[in-house]
Amino acid sequence: MLRSIIRQAAKPLARNNLARRTLYSSPASFSDAIFVHRDTAENNASIPFEFNEDNKKRISEILKKYPEQYKKAAIMPLLDLGQRQNGFTSISVMNEVARLLEVPPMRVYEVATFYTMYNRQPVGKYFLQLCTTTPCQLGGCGSTKILETIKSNLGIEVGETSKDGKFTLVEVECAGACVNAPVMAINDDYYEDLTPETTTKLLDNLKSGKPVKAGPQSGRHTCEYAPGVYTTLNSEPYGPGFRVREDL
Ligand code: FES
Repeated sequence: MLRSIIRQAAKPLARNNLARRTLYSSPASFSDAIFVHRDTAENNASIPFEFNEDNKKRISEILKKYPEQYKKAAIMPLLDLGQRQNGFTSISVMNEVARLLEVPPMRVYEVATFYTMYNRQPVGKYFLQLCTTTPCQLGGCGSTKILETIKSNLGIEVGETSKDGKFTLVEVECAGACVNAPVMAINDDYYEDLTPETTTKLLDNLKSGKPVKAGPQSGRHTCEYAPGVYTTLNSEPYGPGFRVREDL
């Protein structure tokens, strides 16, 4: 009896589930960075790391921003300092930050693995982050062509470092400068309005140690209207009361 009640109750449920649920699957998207740490010759906990004197002063200034009991809030700026000093955010940098802030190392590992700004493997002197998201890719922007130009100019694929250790190339999601698409960050600076020609020139200048100018490579000033003809806000601003009834 009990079995038959269960069967009766179960049948409609199973049918409904089958009718309503359609499962889709899409290819897994893999990051070019792994989340777990693997000891290597250049990145293992036995390599000592200590902040230099300048950074120690910076750290004491940073810590003044937070109440003593919340100094773990300084994990991100300290990791950033560590990365700048060490060249990348090694396990020793993370451990030193944890020691200074008196938090379990895992709290620091969690932050360092979540934010892609922390490179947990060594990178080249010039860290190229090319945006290949839709606005940089579509129409005349052509980030795909820029990517091909960089790869063939440097002889590396995405995620690789050039043999001379100078350049590391990664693809990134929107860099937040779509108005100047296509965009590539090199270390802390943005290089915008790129074309295959300006990209080649930029890379060649970096290779030969010539100065390069950050910002739009097209010659336009910041993010002004690209064609150079102003079609809006080109008349004197209206005064107070414009188009307001006189009796008001
Ligand atoms: S999509 Fe490239 S900067 Fe926004």
